[in-house]
Amino acid sequence: MRLSVAIDGPAGAGKSTIAKLVAKEFDLMYINTGAMYRAVALKAEENNIGDKDIDALCSLISTFEMKFENDDLILNGENIQDRITMPEISKIVSKYASIKEVREILVKLQREMSNKFDVIMDGRDIGTVVLKDSKFKFFLTATPEARAERRYKELTNRGLDVDYSTILEDIIKRDYLDSNREVDPLKKADDAIEVDTTKLSINEVVKEISLSIKKNLSVL
Ligand code: DC
Repeated sequence: MRLSVAIDGPAGAGKSTIAKLVAKEFDLMYINTGAMYRAVALKAEENNIGDKDIDALCSLISTFEMKFENDDLILNGENIQDRITMPEISKIVSKYASIKEVREILVKLQREMSNKFDVIMDGRDIGTVVLKDSKFKFFLTATPEARAERRYKELTNRGLDVDYSTILEDIIKRDYLDSNREVDPLKKADDAIEVDTTKLSINEVVKEISLSIKKNLSVL
């Protein structure tokens, strides 16, 4: 049986940082599902496809060949990681991620990846939908202020000129949109372990998750 680990939580809770480290420890492929929704937003904007044009969006996604290399998303041979993590994309991605037809296609792709490889996936609906049979589910949280602070540091370290209060506003707005959409909203799976990362170091979170995986692996 394949090993699959689900990590969910709101923007900036530390999902990708933690997932990459846990992936190394257990030799898992890291799948950043948020990057896949961001790729849809980026290419839809580039091609002037609005969020109401479902047919055009679906045919756009049907041209996508996505894979992860060194944790970066490669779309049709092009590394788009830097472009999809720009604040402009963060602002618009929720509206594309709330479309049922878009989610159906991406969830199918994500499940195909988990059937082929041992994976750790992070997102919003991994424990509740994509990997709902996984025995290893974690839900990371942190206060909006702590999450905005992390995003601020991450973006300024990349040399971007950003403003903390705008980031905090965006995070609060995105929490609302992601948690209140009709299709597969952000929600803790009943059987997920919740970890509040506000006051924990990255290593402490990785340790907690790794210990829990090891414990359950020995029970399987
Ligand atoms: O994790 P992130 O910030 O890169 O995610 C980008 C957006 O995609 C986020 O606003 C919610 C959405 N998303 C989703 O709806 N389902 C997922 N499995 C992953 C991300």
